[in-house]
Amino acid sequence: MHSITVEPCTFALFGALGDLALRKLFPALYQLDGAQLLHEDTRIIALAREPGSEQQHLAFIATELRRYVDAKDLDEAVVERFLARLTYLHVDFLKADDYVALAEQAGSAQQVIAYFATPAAVYGAICENLAKVGLSENTRVVLEKPIGSDLESSRKVNDAVAQFFPENRTYRIDHYLGKETVQNLIALRFANSLFETQWNQNYISHVEITVAEKVGIEGRWGYFDKAGQLRDMIQNHLLQLLCLIAMDPPADLSADSIRDEKVKVLRALAPISPEGLTTQVVRGQYIAGHSEGKAVPGYLEEPNSNTQSDTETFVALRADIRNWRWAGVPFYLRTGKRMPQKLSQIVIHFKEPSHYIFAPEQRLQISNKLIIRLQPDEGISLRVMTKEQGLDKGMQLRSGPLQLNFSDTWRSARIPDAYERLLLEVMNGNQNLFVRKDEIEAAWTWCDQLIAGWKKSGDAPKPYAAGSWGPMSSIALITRDGRSWYGDI
Ligand code: BG6
Repeated sequence: MHSITVEPCTFALFGALGDLALRKLFPALYQLDGAQLLHEDTRIIALAREPGSEQQHLAFIATELRRYVDAKDLDEAVVERFLARLTYLHVDFLKADDYVALAEQAGSAQQVIAYFATPAAVYGAICENLAKVGLSENTRVVLEKPIGSDLESSRKVNDAVAQFFPENRTYRIDHYLGKETVQNLIALRFANSLFETQWNQNYISHVEITVAEKVGIEGRWGYFDKAGQLRDMIQNHLLQLLCLIAMDPPADLSADSIRDEKVKVLRALAPISPEGLTTQVVRGQYIAGHSEGKAVPGYLEEPNSNTQSDTETFVALRADIRNWRWAGVPFYLRTGKRMPQKLSQIVIHFKEPSHYIFAPEQRLQISNKLIIRLQPDEGISLRVMTKEQGLDKGMQLRSGPLQLNFSDTWRSARIPDAYERLLLEVMNGNQNLFVRKDEIEAAWTWCDQLIAGWKKSGDAPKPYAAGSWGPMSSIALITRDGRSWYGDI
């Protein structure tokens, strides 16, 4: 795709003592260091609001690093090298004076990367203060999701950032784009002519995208209850997956060519009509149930919950794309917390052959499916019809897989975490895997009309037991169209 360069940079991590930084960002930077992908002059400045000594905070980061990096990947020599790059600065994000020390430490660094793992409400202020201390010229800014909670609030954040940083130095994270298997969608679609000729409404009957999580909301109630599953997962991760499946071939691999195609798909999404709200969309909220054989509480019984909340923890919906390629091909999206298993999977269902010649009773099983497993057990499987073996079987058909399992195929290769790839791309100045402002806005425009419809109808989310695949109506949603969710899960 492109060569990996390792230019030196100063990496300023705002919100360095938060969950994301400790669980994902420091471990990802550590892995890059271990893979020799951090230049020896690269420095990491941890910035946070917590008072306390530098020594105390660095010791805490070191402990958390050892906790979150897989034990088999912990190499003490690399840990030491990595920790030697780190410094800690206490900042009040809103006070310009507090940035002077950052500017001094960044010194004459050719490249500064400012990563905002903070609430989006302070992104604008951080940008302004970076500019005040002269850190806007050589700086790339990385914005974590969620950027706003609707079109209007996301515009405010983006506009505040844009006053100081141009789009080509603004990197909006959707960590799904950093997953190896998600990037593989581009290779699968555009490096195999085999699929591209079939990739339209003539050959595909429908597409399913499932992103299920086993975990509940534990400990994240404050954030999640304001967001809900539509804003937390559909607006970003699932719509990005839909775009990668549905977009037209880009002219090249450049960031803007890919993003131009994605945004066309988002703009072509049909708004959901008031009737569609009841037939095409299901909101759910988990109630007490079981996870891995253990009883688990419902969403409203989690610690610190608001027992009146009507926030959804599950959404299933049917999206339609209004263009020549996809007219009449529904995209069924489903995502939820407290599902039976963690699973992200896309299933492309191909149409039946145009003329059927086998025994009538076998007709129902005829359909080719391409199953793209994003996580776990990353791989691709193409279900094809073959003949049952044996003299007594006649022309009895069976569906079997042509299978590519990534961990078996590339045994030695560790699948890098999404953040490793994304941080490396920011360091290399490549915006391919980041979301452009117009994409975010098009995604919010579509989600906003759904949220407005829900608000107007006032309907409460449908209950589903923790450990199940969601409310019964999510099954009705697809069976109404004469289909079912792909059952091999
Ligand atoms: C985040 C959401 O963006 O993605 C979380 O805010 C969710 O609610 C997470 O748990 C899922 O990511 P992954 O990589 O574990 O599938």
